[in-house]
Amino acid sequence: MSVEAPTRPEGSPRPQLGDELELGIESLAFGGEGVARLGDGGYVVFVAGAIPGDRVRAVVHKRKRNYAHARTVAVLEPSPERIEPTAEHPGVPWQVIPYARQLQIKQQQVDDALRRIGRLDGFELEQIVPALEPWRYRNKLEYSFGEDPDPAAGDPARPQLVCGFHAPAGGNRVTPIEDCLLASERGNLARAAALNWCRAAGLTAWERGRGRGERAAAGARGRDERTGPASDGRARLRNLVVREGRRTGMLQVRIVTTDGELDAGSLAGALSEALGESLSGVLWTRTRSLAETTAGGETELVWGEAELPERLGELELRISAEAFFQTNTEMAELLYGVAVEYAALEGWERVYDLYSGIGTIALTLAPRAGELWGIELVEQAVADAIAGARRNEITNAHFFAGDTRTALPELLERAPRPDVLIVDPPRAGLSKKVVHRIIDASPKRIVYVSCNPTTLAPNAAELTQAGWTLRKVRPVDMFPQTHHIECVALLERN
Ligand SMILES: C[S@@+](CC[C@H](N)C(=O)[O-])C[C@H]1O[C@@H](n2cnc3c(N)ncnc32)[C@H](O)[C@@H]1O
Repeated sequence: MSVEAPTRPEGSPRPQLGDELELGIESLAFGGEGVARLGDGGYVVFVAGAIPGDRVRAVVHKRKRNYAHARTVAVLEPSPERIEPTAEHPGVPWQVIPYARQLQIKQQQVDDALRRIGRLDGFELEQIVPALEPWRYRNKLEYSFGEDPDPAAGDPARPQLVCGFHAPAGGNRVTPIEDCLLASERGNLARAAALNWCRAAGLTAWERGRGRGERAAAGARGRDERTGPASDGRARLRNLVVREGRRTGMLQVRIVTTDGELDAGSLAGALSEALGESLSGVLWTRTRSLAETTAGGETELVWGEAELPERLGELELRISAEAFFQTNTEMAELLYGVAVEYAALEGWERVYDLYSGIGTIALTLAPRAGELWGIELVEQAVADAIAGARRNEITNAHFFAGDTRTALPELLERAPRPDVLIVDPPRAGLSKKVVHRIIDASPKRIVYVSCNPTTLAPNAAELTQAGWTLRKVRPVDMFPQTHHIECVALLERN
């Protein structure tokens, strides 16, 4: 089901960049690519767009000593498991695998990661919790603007502005999307209204590595043509972020551009007309960074409220644009339910919530705990957490802004000996330093919420060597049609 870093035996063939290979796919690697082997089987090729049982033609786009990455250009013989795709969408590569099989693969990959990477055993791997909705489950979509090389209708001189997604490993091309089946209908309406307004305003897209006459013109005026506005001084469009309060039905739209002029008030008017009462706020972020990200830059509120209202379980929340929020609201409720169950609180415990975001886990646990302490890097998220505690009349939860690595020792001085410690780190997992700090904190129980079993595994292994036992793990499928795996693990001090 997965492969570890391969080593190449003598004599295995090694493909060149750009080679087209015919490959039989044996399994799926962590990260979702198909796995094929060349020659005597030692040289591994990871193949995007292929599933076990497929025979494909694939072009090599990355080559290392012991393995290569390739992209499927044609499925020669489809796997017997393959089903027809539902959507033309670059973000759902597993849609050709029946959903029940996706769940089996995820369950197996969690087991593989823990046993083979973490060398762990003796734990109970509980049955994966299936998603409530296989489609239209995301509450946040980050679209990119681009330009269709086909001339716009009625104006052959100007390329058509599009809004969609970058194809995986597809360079700078943006695939336009008509109906994003990961977003709600309402979310799609917001994107369509914003795009129509941008087209009518005659705005252009910022594209990485673009090379037009505009470059020379901008350069001659002393601007950085990679990050600056168009030659007419208007902002170039980078991204559109649509966030939806799934329980409130409210939408927040954030447009991300280069520096330059934009009639953002008029955009807000068009959105308000299209979305009516559902529009909660319109924000405009200007970014000078070359990095392709929607984080960073300066954000201003153009219209409405800066925070999106949402409900999660019993909690009334408000989410800032900069703050992390679980992207599948309905499944986040189930995920937190597992955390509540594993934490097994009786009402007197001191609980740490590390990587606390807007405090949703701590606030969910609050009625069952003595006191709770959250640490989170993003200051705006901490402000949301503190406001959330107040709004929900929770008085036993406290939140601090800081890097867990440095803030945890301070917290240990202020509120020592936590009984239960929750961690929910980003994909990279916990650094060795943070694991050592957790060992110093010595909680009886650790509830590890993980979005990456390949980093959970070494972290859990280190904790077991330091005196904790991995008791049980339950995967929760937050991201159907994709390879992403979320799970909750319980470790108890021996
Ligand atoms: C996977 S999210 C979990 C958030 C929250 N527990 C939830 O369920 O919504 C990880 C969070 O860790 C925060 N983060 C990233 N690096 C951090 C660090 N070094 N110290 C503290 N928080 C960090 C991110 O800003 C993000 O809010």
